[in-house]
Amino acid sequence: MTTTKPRSLVIALDGPAASGKGTLARRLARHYGFAHLDTGLIYRAVGMKVVRAGGDPADMASAAAAARALGPEDLGAGDLRGDLAANAASKVAAIAEIRAILLEFQRNFARHPPGGEPGAVLDGRDIGTVVCPDAEAKLYVVAAVEVRAERRLKELREAGVEAIYARVLQDLKERDARDMGRSTAPLTQAQDAFVLDTSALDADAAFAAALDFIETRIRADRA
Ligand code: DC
Repeated sequence: MTTTKPRSLVIALDGPAASGKGTLARRLARHYGFAHLDTGLIYRAVGMKVVRAGGDPADMASAAAAARALGPEDLGAGDLRGDLAANAASKVAAIAEIRAILLEFQRNFARHPPGGEPGAVLDGRDIGTVVCPDAEAKLYVVAAVEVRAERRLKELREAGVEAIYARVLQDLKERDARDMGRSTAPLTQAQDAFVLDTSALDADAAFAAALDFIETRIRADRA
């Protein structure tokens, strides 16, 4: 007798940098026992692989070679959270060929989570629009840029990095413009996404609101 494994349930979270989607994604994955993929980390890993090899992340051939050779060990590299990685990531992320190379990996993760988990939470910029347009639940997580700058400043200072508010704010505005303005898979809200504005919400309140939406969506799907 053959049995068909039920397809995994996918939760897609998109939004700008420092909107709170990463924290929310980790928490949702833990709550449901799902696998979690921070897709920004993939772009950071590709960017840093090029930088470490002495190449230019904006160069398509160097970035494509790094993307094709990407392995699990690259995602665990220690230098992926810093500014150098963020900048390299935004350059490789703007190249259509690189996005195409990384697409299958992300889709495969979503529908066949690595640990055999019953579902996956993916967070990024184009999950609900391009990577998993048929995700069961989509959230578009936003917050005022000033609030995001305050959060990023706190994170940096807690990590012992000296930073000034005006500079962090400017960086975020520039990243928003790059992520929303690029021609391939720009950051944009999927039509069927639930917009979650975390400007006035702490992590617990954001989680509760997200859960409420997801539960309603899943129940509607099953009805
Ligand atoms: O979320 P993050 O800061 O780690 O993302 C790093 C860069 O990668 C950022 O410039 C946006 C880009 N990115 C993307 O283009 N598509 C994704 N799905 C995730 C991240």
